[in-house]
Amino acid sequence: MDRRAFLATTALATALPALPARAKAVDTYNGSDLPMPAPRDGLDPRPIPEEPGRLLLDRGWRFHLGDVPMPEIKGHQATYENAKAGAAHGAAAMTFDDSDWREVTLPHDWAIESAVDPQANVSQGYRRRGIGWYRRTIRLDPALKGKFLEIDFGAIATNATIWINGTIVDRNWSGFNGIHVDLTPYARFGDELNTIAIRVDAEPMEGWWYEGAGIYRHVWLAVREPVHIVTDGVHCDPRRAADGSWSVPVTVTLNNIATAARKVRVNASLADPARTFIAAAVAEIEVDPLQPIEASLSLSPTDPKPWSPDSPTLYPLIVRILDGETVLDERRINIGFRWLDFDSRTGFHLNGQPLKIKGTCNHQDHAGVGTAIPDSLWDWRVRRLKALGSNAIRVSHNAPPTELLDACDRHGLLVMNENRQFNPSPDYMAQLEWLVRRDRNRPSVFMWSVFNEEPMQGSPQGYEMVRRMAATVKALDDSRPVTAAMNDGMFTPSNVSQAVDVVGFNYQIPQYDKYHAAFPDKPLTSSEDTSAFSTRGEWATDKTRNIMTSYDDEGAPWGATHNAAWKAIAERPFVAGGFVWTGFDYHGEPTPFEWPSTSSFFGIMDICGFPKLAFHQHRAQWIDDTPVLALQPHWNWSGKEGQPIRVVALTNAERVTLLLNGEKVGEAVVDRLKQPEFQVPYAPGKLEAIGYRGGREVSRAVIETVGAPVKLRLTPDRRVMAGDGEDAQPITVDAVDSRGRHVPLANLPASFTIEGGEIIGLGNGNPNDHDPEKGSARRLFNGLAQVIVRVAAGRGKLVLRATAPGLKPATLTVDRIAAAPRAQVANTRPEMLLSFWARAPFTTTRPDPNAKIGSDDRYATARGRSGRLEGPSEAGRWNGYQMNFTPPASVRRRGGVLTFTELAGSAEIWLDGKKIAEKRDPAPAPLDVALPAGQGERSLVVLVEAEPGKASGFGKMVVVREKVDQ
Ligand code: GAL
Repeated sequence: MDRRAFLATTALATALPALPARAKAVDTYNGSDLPMPAPRDGLDPRPIPEEPGRLLLDRGWRFHLGDVPMPEIKGHQATYENAKAGAAHGAAAMTFDDSDWREVTLPHDWAIESAVDPQANVSQGYRRRGIGWYRRTIRLDPALKGKFLEIDFGAIATNATIWINGTIVDRNWSGFNGIHVDLTPYARFGDELNTIAIRVDAEPMEGWWYEGAGIYRHVWLAVREPVHIVTDGVHCDPRRAADGSWSVPVTVTLNNIATAARKVRVNASLADPARTFIAAAVAEIEVDPLQPIEASLSLSPTDPKPWSPDSPTLYPLIVRILDGETVLDERRINIGFRWLDFDSRTGFHLNGQPLKIKGTCNHQDHAGVGTAIPDSLWDWRVRRLKALGSNAIRVSHNAPPTELLDACDRHGLLVMNENRQFNPSPDYMAQLEWLVRRDRNRPSVFMWSVFNEEPMQGSPQGYEMVRRMAATVKALDDSRPVTAAMNDGMFTPSNVSQAVDVVGFNYQIPQYDKYHAAFPDKPLTSSEDTSAFSTRGEWATDKTRNIMTSYDDEGAPWGATHNAAWKAIAERPFVAGGFVWTGFDYHGEPTPFEWPSTSSFFGIMDICGFPKLAFHQHRAQWIDDTPVLALQPHWNWSGKEGQPIRVVALTNAERVTLLLNGEKVGEAVVDRLKQPEFQVPYAPGKLEAIGYRGGREVSRAVIETVGAPVKLRLTPDRRVMAGDGEDAQPITVDAVDSRGRHVPLANLPASFTIEGGEIIGLGNGNPNDHDPEKGSARRLFNGLAQVIVRVAAGRGKLVLRATAPGLKPATLTVDRIAAAPRAQVANTRPEMLLSFWARAPFTTTRPDPNAKIGSDDRYATARGRSGRLEGPSEAGRWNGYQMNFTPPASVRRRGGVLTFTELAGSAEIWLDGKKIAEKRDPAPAPLDVALPAGQGERSLVVLVEAEPGKASGFGKMVVVREKVDQ
């Protein structure tokens, strides 16, 4: 983004209204009118420091759903060749024809694209996962020869086998950890393409929730100088001394892929939030070839402003590797200055102040997109959690995506960073190490959790396993406590609580006091609590219809209601805080039901992020200063006139009064741990609550009886989006009555069309709705639906239109402002190399194009090659090449292009006995020949007449390509 656009967006951010001290009455139907923090710069949710030297590799992947069985290998020669590097078969082979595979853009979750199936696994949301293949070719410029090249996968669900140019380069058995593949040794440059092939087996499960399937996070191509900083190779976690001064120890791991040692300078500079440099350090180091080495530096900033959830101040640290004035490599990392303390009696302290942890647990999927969550949707979800008044998130139960952590650093949400597999064996320990190495610079990350609810937690084996895992974490990061989320076993003689710094309790309210009495010196937090069931917008449980009331009545047998869980935590100073299961609903685990329910009932928000009653309840309990007041449910109870309606005022006021059509119908002194409830005889009209503090009115909320829906309405989170082809946001769809008021009971079908962008998913928060989450239609559920849109690249407008039978349509226009798209690796079309040719010996006369030209045996002497010139020969100037080949499927169907990258000599091109092109000028030149469509094997003959005394033939590659649509 250029500076003007940047300033414009900054102005936009500051123009966003701050919440007034006395809150106005708000209609809280979708939560969007609640004070969410502004997205960074008002617009672009991505971090400022894009890492130089990295290109996104998100576009141009070919995808095949289902396995492609490997061909059986038989015969001595084939078996011999099979055992060699570069010799992969089937869909892993470089020459495999993937031209008929669907092209997809990452992030991609194939499971969310399929229909729910009652025969599939309830835990995975009744979505089939199965097996899929991805392939991508990359063309590398010859100028990149000698550079270090790495492909970085954010994660692949679940078991991935990765080949590069026919050689297996990784087998990764986790759907949550990053994979870094050194492409350098296999890389081919120029005309020869590089092929990445990935078989993804998503049958194995690592969780009991929806896990998605495929390459559901970003992929990057890193291009670095021979001497470079290794991936995740900067450790810069600020330290505070007892006297209050700060230092930033910076450790940089370098490698050198050249053949000679090189002396370089490592420079670390720290800037303040206004981008003024405030501290710098430099070190010299010699890096031997292929011997990673660490350089250590230290910075001493004075009086940095602390980072906290209320004030998430980030300081950019820039690390550069220099040779003279040449910058060889660079990393930009946002760090924060904060210090932590868990006290066994007084709980958690941040920057010397007590801070009760008000957290939520969350999985990593969303309505419509499954696990393929765009960066800006991560940002939105974090802002939504901030609007809830929470200050922490537990990314249960796996390594989070970096884009989520970026948003947590930026907006101020503490992160309990959780490891997936409880297993100290080398493969799994490597995953834990990777996690700590990747995330240990982040101010938001404040705890490492090594497991969740493991049956071995109360055994000596469990203790020994955690001891090893904790030691591994400590070796990489001694500044953050290690915890483990226990749901049992904490009183056995040997158990994991003895091997962690902070013991985490999942549920177990009755054990809080007992444990604290027995182990008064052990810090304790709830790592998971609540697990209460509710369906958004429903006010009576009906188990025959898989519906749970939204009143906070339905705690799981192992859990508690929202009120009961928070009360137990809030009243005990020694309990550092809690993590509600969950902030957002998620696909899968539809406890307490099964089919037809396919997604969860635990969320404070539904799967779209629309608030349930619990959202207002937590705001009332978690937000102290800003007045909070919401009334639940709605006020549309036609047919129940005169009957009592249960009304809840969710407020942090001291006292609240309730007026129905102007008449006082209730008054209560507020206990924030148990919100005031009223039974109000129903009469249509307006029910209003007024909140008081110190006898002064501080807040109001209204619910009113509305009319029938007459019109649809579309409400965005942002009216401006970055025209970078990636920015995405959820749009709220609701219906309004003739006076423009939200109709909470509207359950009607809506359809959408879009220009200037695309719809990437739809949802409505109903766990029992089986309509597809992809496409262009969705029913409103209890008044709401959500459309997630992604912008097209470039400046312009994004226009979303919504229609519903019998209602006035709605149109939403969002500005797409100019924003540079992030650099992407150029797309390549599938192509087929015609490498080895049968060749006739040189003759003085023109060969017969219809005669068999020569042997195509690999070991025959008269053999031609693309990329090699022949002659000149005394025997004559005429030469003939022949090749039988079956074009890629898309070329067979639609025709294609035969490209001679360089053809020397004059030539005739014959296909299946017919001349299709001629080259008159004998000078070496490229030649493109249209290749007509046609099934089966094709016979290609090229007759070449050399210039006198000159070599002739195929100086460079001969390639069959797909026809590119104009
Ligand atoms: C916990 C578990 C969570 C989730 C939750 C549902 O025991 O850690 O992953 O399953 O129960 O209540």
